[in-house]
Order: sequence, then C-alpha cells, then structure tokens
Amino acid sequence: MVKIEKIKNLKTPFYYYDMELLEKTIGIVKEEANKYGYMVHYALKANFDERILQKMRVAGFGVDCVSGNEVRYAVEKGFDTNKIVFAGVGKSDEEISYALDHKIFSFNCESKNELEVINEIAKSRCTVADVALRINPDLNPNTHKYISTGGKENKFGISPIELKEIIEMLPNLKNVNIIGLHFHIGSQILDLSDFERLALRVNELQEWFEEKGFNLSSINVGGGLGIDYVTPLETPIPNFKGYFKVFAENIKLRKGQTLHFELGRSLVGQCGTLLTKVLYNKETASGKEFVIVDAGMTDLIRPSLYQAKHYISNISSTFAERKSYNVGGPVCESSDIFDKDIELPITKRGDILAISSVGAYGQAMASQYNLRDFAPAVYSDSI
Ligand code: LLP
Repeated sequence: MVKIEKIKNLKTPFYYYDMELLEKTIGIVKEEANKYGYMVHYALKANFDERILQKMRVAGFGVDCVSGNEVRYAVEKGFDTNKIVFAGVGKSDEEISYALDHKIFSFNCESKNELEVINEIAKSRCTVADVALRINPDLNPNTHKYISTGGKENKFGISPIELKEIIEMLPNLKNVNIIGLHFHIGSQILDLSDFERLALRVNELQEWFEEKGFNLSSINVGGGLGIDYVTPLETPIPNFKGYFKVFAENIKLRKGQTLHFELGRSLVGQCGTLLTKVLYNKETASGKEFVIVDAGMTDLIRPSLYQAKHYISNISSTFAERKSYNVGGPVCESSDIFDKDIELPITKRGDILAISSVGAYGQAMASQYNLRDFAPAVYSDSI
C-alpha cells in the first residue's frame, strides 16, 4: 500500500513502483523456475521502464520481444542476445534482418509465409535463422476475448493446415533451423487448468513432430499467468509455485529439452500503482456522483479498452463515511472512466486516489492523446 506521507508532495499523476515488491516477486519466480531448470524471458511489452528492465537483466532473465524496436532496446540495455526471443505476426524485413544480425535465440515464427521470408533474408545474409514454430493450439482460455490468443479464429500462430505445408516445404528451406515449438494462449489466466490443457496439447504435438523425425531442443509455452486485480493488497504475488508445477507435472520434456516461459503481467503487474489527484466533484442529471481525477485513459487505457477492473482506494481521505462514485478522467471521451459505482470514503477535491495493479500494460500503453503529458515513474527506493 502506498503511504500518503511518502508521496503527498509529488506532482500527480504518476506511476509509483514498489521496488521491494518487484524484487521479491522476481526472487520467487527465479526460485520456482530454477527448481525445474526452466528459462524465463521477460515480456518487455508489459513494461519497458529502465529500472524495471535492469532488475530483470540482473535476475538473469531473457527477453520476449514483439517488435524490432523491442529487440533493439533489449540489446542496448545489455541483455544477452542469446536469451532474446522474437514473436509477432507482422515482422518486417528490417526487423528480421536486425534480429538475425544480433543472433537472437529464436524467431517465434507465426506463418508459412513468414518462414519463407525469414529463410530468404537469412540466405541473403549467408546465415541460418533459429526458429521456433508458434503453433495455434486451438485452446480458448478463460479470459477476456481481446487478450485470448490461442483460439483457431485468432490471428496468432500457425494453423494445422499451414503446419503440414511447412513440413513439406522444410527440406527446401536451408536457411532456417527449427529448434522448437512456441505457444501463447492468452493473458490474465487465473485458472491453472488452462495451462494444464496447454501442456497436454504440447505433448500431443511433440509426438506428432517426433513421428515426422524432428528433434526439438526447446519448448516455449509463452506467458499468461494472471494477477489478482480484485484484492491486490491480499495477493501481491501471483501463484508461481502452482503455475510452474502444472507444467512440471503435465508436460513431457524430452532429454536435453529446455522449457521456456514469457512472463509479463505476473512479474510486474502488482508492483505498479497509478497515483492521481481529485480535481472536481460533480453530479450528473441522473443523480450519479462523479469524481474527476487528473489521470485519464491516456495514462491507463485498460478500463476503457477491456472494461478491466483495477482496485481504487482513496489514500488521503479521513472520512469514515463511504459513498458510491464513478471515477472519470479529463480526456474528451465518454469511455475515459476508471470505474463506476465504487465505494470510497467521502472524496473531495485534492484527495489522492491510488489505482492498483497497473505495473503491466499501464505505462507501456500510455499515449499523448489530447496532447496530454506522459505520467512519469517514481520508485519506492528513491523517494
Ligand atoms: N508472449 C506473447 C507471445 C505475448 O503475446 C504476450 C502478451 C506475452 C508473452 C506475455 O503475456 P503475460 O504474461 O503478460 O500475460 N494489453 C493487454 C495484454 C496483452 C498481452 C499481449 N501479449 C492487457 O492490458 O491486459
């Protein structure tokens, strides 16, 4: 919980990062993953803040990238290029070339056409690209439809039809080396049985590939472990123990095979809080009390984009009495609402609200729409 005394003189809105919690979370991930010899790649898209990235690098994690600029950034920030994986359905020629030149661990290839292009570019550079085939496993996890990626209707991954065509084509693609398989079924998944289903699907596919004579050295099951957005103060650290155990108990790895993970939200989600000041109280004609705050959807788009819920508290009110409010931002969009009908202590102009669990896909998705400033980062260990 952010302490009002610590932050009351800082200009709002800003992202507050609890570095001790981050450190603790990383420590648990390392401990649990090391039990089984698993390799973790941090999903850079969740939060590319420099200090957070440094913690991931020092922890020895690799990076999961989804654009050439992310690959470049990871290289510049000193990550081992041999721990960089590069996914994405639309890698441009320039992005592929850059990643090839830096000898990344693997391209997570999403289509037959992309594989042909990677092969061509590698050939023109007299090199061989290490590739994991991102398979669409046709699994629909229990999460929001916008962040589900493993269903057969989604744009992600290689379909069974294309997979067969790829296998036929491979003998002619001399400049790609298939090192393994990649999966990512979606994000904010709290039901561990979804990961169990993924593990079992991986087993089926492994057998299929073995029958075809493949010797795969790496299996990558992506990310997706969810966090507790409802009571974040009670569950600041996700269930990593259970998560890794599900894979250990269900996936059949072959001798010498490594299992890779791409964790984003679960690593950084709970360490971030958006602090915002109440600008105005107002009542609508329908009788609803609004508080208008100085942060908006430009700082945190998740509620507007996915109807995502973030726990909001008033950390400065001294009132015991509580009331129901809608909390909205200043942006000229009706969807610029953080939440509706939430209970807060009597809230007035000047109060500070804390919006929890914003460490992942918060600051990273900010925009300057309405020419608004970007909310800066503030770290718990530097104030
Ligand atoms: N690997 C791949 C290939 C991905 O596409 C993603 C996330 C991850 C790993 C990391 O997933 P995580 O561990 O963070 O669940 N903006 C949305 C989430 C989009 C997730 C995109 N892909 C949100 O705010 O909920």
